[in-house]
Amino acid sequence: MEDVLGYKGRNVLVTGAASGMGAATAALLVELGAQVTAIDINPTEVRVHRAIQLDMRDRAAIEKVAASIEAPIDGYFGCAGLPGPPFSPLDVMLVNFIGSRHLIELLVPKMHSGSAVAVVASNAAMGWQLQLAQLMELVTVDGFDAGKEWCRANSTLLEPDAYSFSKKVLNAWVGSRAATFIADGIRLNCINPGPTETAMMPHFQNHAGAEIIDAFVGPIRRFSTPEEQAWPLIFLNSPRASYVNGETFTTDGGFFGAVQTGQLDLAKLFGGAGQK
Ligand SMILES: NC(=O)c1ccc[n+]([C@@H]2O[C@H](COP(=O)([O-])OP(=O)(O)OC[C@H]3O[C@@H](n4cnc5c(N)ncnc54)[C@H](O)[C@@H]3O)[C@@H](O)[C@H]2O)c1
Repeated sequence: MEDVLGYKGRNVLVTGAASGMGAATAALLVELGAQVTAIDINPTEVRVHRAIQLDMRDRAAIEKVAASIEAPIDGYFGCAGLPGPPFSPLDVMLVNFIGSRHLIELLVPKMHSGSAVAVVASNAAMGWQLQLAQLMELVTVDGFDAGKEWCRANSTLLEPDAYSFSKKVLNAWVGSRAATFIADGIRLNCINPGPTETAMMPHFQNHAGAEIIDAFVGPIRRFSTPEEQAWPLIFLNSPRASYVNGETFTTDGGFFGAVQTGQLDLAKLFGGAGQK
């Protein structure tokens, strides 16, 4: 079977395409024959059809870019992201959720039945279901400005760990918005990667400590490569995944499964004892 993932000639957008998972996703999609538009605050080295520099914290710039994108959009891959410190909680929320959601929502009218959206959350969102009521408060606040205002008003909530909060709210948004997107035949999913060897990794290690990041590796005993996260994203947006919707797909080498089945004890892990 040729073109098994069905990307030949498809119009796709990739945010965060200058580095890491986004660059890997864009490069693989080019190889698969897609027409790729790359979006990032930084220039990308991937040889894409169109490259756009955009700061996802800037509402007016997002709206200008959205207006410049031609229909039809077959696939949207949301990989742009910021870690926690040294970036402010507000910047983290704007890039990881508020700005990303704004761009996607503006592009929906240019999508069609069969289009798909896949975004990158994180296994730092583990347990997001336990915080659902709080997360849905932000999920149900529409638009960029109102979302930004919610973040300002809830700064004490975001202060300790805006990164995890941004990824939890992404999971909640995917679960909830997928149920309405599908009325137009558009699918929405996310992946929740474990530690991945990208430019973001040193930020995590400096802030959380290398031992905490290593503890999140779990049974597979290594970081993932950006390509190992790109392929699940590419699968999720492929027509081959046409019945997969609202999925918050854990791509962490088995860490979450081991936690769920009691093979890894989170309390011990954070106390430094690691795997049972
Ligand atoms: N690396 C990990 O261990 C890991 C684990 C789980 C989830 N993630 C998530 O994966 C996604 C991809 O990150 P990565 O690991 O490839 O890191 P990365 O730093 O290599 O890539 C992030 C990209 O986002 C872009 N970006 C940052 N701020 C932006 C802005 N204001 N506007 C537009 N683009 C902006 C950067 O320029 C960069 O190209 C992120 O959402 C990240 O949170 C990473």
